Amino acid sequence: MVAHADQPLYLLFLGAPGAGKGTQTAMLSSALDIPRISSGDLFREHIRNQTDLGREAKLYIDKGELVPDAVTVGMVMRRLGEADCARGAILDGFPRTIPQAEALEAGLAARGQAIRTVIDLVVDHDILVERLSGRWMCRSCGASYHLAFHPPAVAGRCDVCGGELYQREDDSPATVTHRLEVYYRQTAPLQEFYRGRGILHQIDGEQPIEAVYEVVLNAAGMGEDADSTG
Ligand code: AP5
Ligand code: MG
Repeated sequence: MVAHADQPLYLLFLGAPGAGKGTQTAMLSSALDIPRISSGDLFREHIRNQTDLGREAKLYIDKGELVPDAVTVGMVMRRLGEADCARGAILDGFPRTIPQAEALEAGLAARGQAIRTVIDLVVDHDILVERLSGRWMCRSCGASYHLAFHPPAVAGRCDVCGGELYQREDDSPATVTHRLEVYYRQTAPLQEFYRGRGILHQIDGEQPIEAVYEVVLNAAGMGEDADSTG
């Protein structure tokens, strides 16, 4: 099924841990006024609220493994059914396996909908490690900062909401290494999946944040040059 301009807008972000999915989707979500749905953030919220789903997800997240597909698909599809997604959604970190991608496609097709564009942020392994080791996140709104590349105006405080900044437990060096292995093995095959559907845009994610964002806007069809299908 092909997405039409008058349908809800579904944009999907692929990319390894640290590629900048959270950074770019937060900016795009404010610009488009469409919710950003991060499977990682949804899991962390469940963990904070000590739900059964959160307790199960934590077992995998702490080890840098993927949470099982059935749990993940159910959680994200429920979220996509909420009222604020009536105009669409920007998906960050979902799908991450071929079965998740197939479930999303089938779920949207059942509503007569489809993904418009898939944006893959491409970043070299060593840079990913450097970014994750210097990352600080907001406990309240989930915004990402980096000590060297994107420091907050006031140390330890979020520029957006004033919340407290913290380092994610799964950003420890050993877990980062494993998360990257899991990404190359289980998630990278989605590039071929979406290339085959003609909706994949691969973007050089190693440029500064604002420069990446300009290309993201183009790929999302909101800039002057939207011809970057990879
Ligand atoms: P999740 O929270 O999605 O983590 P991730 O994919 O590992 O990605 P990150 O959030 O680490 O990176 P990001 O791409 O968002 O980078 P960011 O913008 O912060 O998932 C966590 C866990 O949940 C998974 O390991 C798994 O267990 C589970 N999970 C989640 N989804 C799942 C699914 N679908 N199925 C199964 N399990 C799932 O940027 C990183 C840093 O770099 C920041 O410090 C930022 O300031 C900086 N930065 C960003 N862009 C630039 C730039 N252009 N130049 C310089 N610095 C930059
Ligand atoms: Mg993220």
